[in-house]
Amino acid sequence: MKLPIVAANWKSNKNVDEAISWMRAFAMQFSGFGGQVIICPPFIALASLQREILSNNWGVWLGAQNVSAFESGAYTGEVSASMLKGLVNYAIIGHSERRRVFRESDRDVTAKIKMSLKNGITPIVCVANEADIGEWRSIPEASSNTIIVAFEPVSSIGTGSADSFEHAREVTKALKAMLHPWKEVYILYGGSVNDENVSSFTSHSEIDGVLVGGASLDAGEFMEIIRHATR
Ligand code: PGA
Repeated sequence: MKLPIVAANWKSNKNVDEAISWMRAFAMQFSGFGGQVIICPPFIALASLQREILSNNWGVWLGAQNVSAFESGAYTGEVSASMLKGLVNYAIIGHSERRRVFRESDRDVTAKIKMSLKNGITPIVCVANEADIGEWRSIPEASSNTIIVAFEPVSSIGTGSADSFEHAREVTKALKAMLHPWKEVYILYGGSVNDENVSSFTSHSEIDGVLVGGASLDAGEFMEIIRHATR
């Protein structure tokens, strides 16, 4: 994996036309990056963005914002990992908004991680603290797979008040130790990341990248974050 990882979580924002406009505006300014850029738009925009990215050979990757805990079948409204296979390389799982608003449990998160891995999708699992590391810490699939974990303190999400690098580094260290059963672990920081504070997280090798919400919605602003995401 190329580092730092800079991932965009658009949440429930943008229709297909808006997503395509964002991508074109972003690509006009994007002239390569030493790390890995991952865009996580809503499901409805994935296919169009994939076409744009592949036909223009832009070096960015796509991720889903969620994935079903079920394989396939009678689960109205669910988007399964096998449906996302070939469309995305990554999937955000267990975001604090999903845990809070949709009551996602550790069991759900574990099932979603397993479904993603089975379909060749690397999970980006969000945790608010060490207590959110659950059953999935040591599933049998761990020893042969890569996991990305985003440490996102709830008090920093969408508040404009990012965590300190020192605290984020401390938690990152603890998370890496807890996740030793996994073959490969990358830890991101998320919560009010912007172009002014991003380098305080990415310039140290302890943190592998950032997950950006609000500040990723504007292509120019997100580009500035990438420019400042120095290693
Ligand atoms: P924020 O969101 O950057 O708007 O704080 C981050 C996230 O929820 O992933």
